[in-house]
Amino acid sequence: MLEKIEQLISEISELKASSAEELEALRLKYLSKKGAINDLMADFRNVPAEQKREVGQRLNVLKQMAQDKISALKESFDAMKAQAEKPDMTRSAYPVELGTRHPLNIVKNEIIEIFSRLGFVLADGPEVEDDWHVFSAMNFAEDHPARDMQDTFFVEAHPDIILRTHTSSVQSRVMEVSQPPIRIICPGRVYRNEAISYRAHCFFHQVEALYVAKDVSFTDLKQVLLYFAQQMFGADTKIRLRPSYFPFTEPSAEMDISCNICGGKGCPFCKGTGWVEILGCGMVHPNVLELNGINSKEYTGYALGMGIERITNLKYQVKDLRMFSENDVRFLKEFEAAN
Ligand code: DAH
Repeated sequence: MLEKIEQLISEISELKASSAEELEALRLKYLSKKGAINDLMADFRNVPAEQKREVGQRLNVLKQMAQDKISALKESFDAMKAQAEKPDMTRSAYPVELGTRHPLNIVKNEIIEIFSRLGFVLADGPEVEDDWHVFSAMNFAEDHPARDMQDTFFVEAHPDIILRTHTSSVQSRVMEVSQPPIRIICPGRVYRNEAISYRAHCFFHQVEALYVAKDVSFTDLKQVLLYFAQQMFGADTKIRLRPSYFPFTEPSAEMDISCNICGGKGCPFCKGTGWVEILGCGMVHPNVLELNGINSKEYTGYALGMGIERITNLKYQVKDLRMFSENDVRFLKEFEAAN
């Protein structure tokens, strides 16, 4: 009998169970009424009197350790089960809807990407600006009629404080604190006091680029413009430059690209001309360099500025400017694929 008890003790101490069913089978085998331990208990009365003490003790040890073992196994199962059933607190309570990037941001990022391949780095400045950075430092004379080209929002109590009308103010912000070589790209929001319609808004977005260094020429500008146009609108895109006027550049030009909607054949978008204007540019006026602390005898530069809405319209043919700021999810969802 003692031998049997010892054998069971060592057998039970080795027990393992890999499922709840297995564990229950073990419990039945050892601990139930008809189990192995109860059978031994029943045999106990046949143990000779002089051995009863020792056998009884070992039997109790066996029973106790079997109970301990089975409950230890059960506990480890329960813990595993609880772990498996534990809710995942990182999951959203609702089905996850993926957002979409705003079309203006998609296009802005693309423009930044193209210029950053040419070594341009991001810069920015405040939207609430002072007259100096928006106009004076950009060579708009005090009574210059060019100031009327843009309908400015003024802060009533502080006529010197305005909402910037163009991102060209960032040119000045950067030049006043750095020396050439300067190669920056500045995307941002600008404001003009215009009646809101399908083709005008009181705020919109621009990207400005500025390069100032030694011996920068108009040829450099032209190459960058061509590179940008072809990266943005496709390798077949043609560009043409028309003379223009901006106070902060001399000479100044406007750039057209071959209409990428009709491929240059003529359509309502390009008003039948096959060309669409997309940006203004020119060689930085020496006055602008000097006004911002850069020696115009030593350095030259080019600058360009474009409206992001216009580029976006060309790429995606959004007919109504107001859609960009209405945040209609049906409109935004249309750009899911472009994300
Ligand atoms: N600031 C001009 C505008 O808002 C755009 C522009 C034209 C920017 C020529 C430039 C430039 O940097 O060289 O219409």
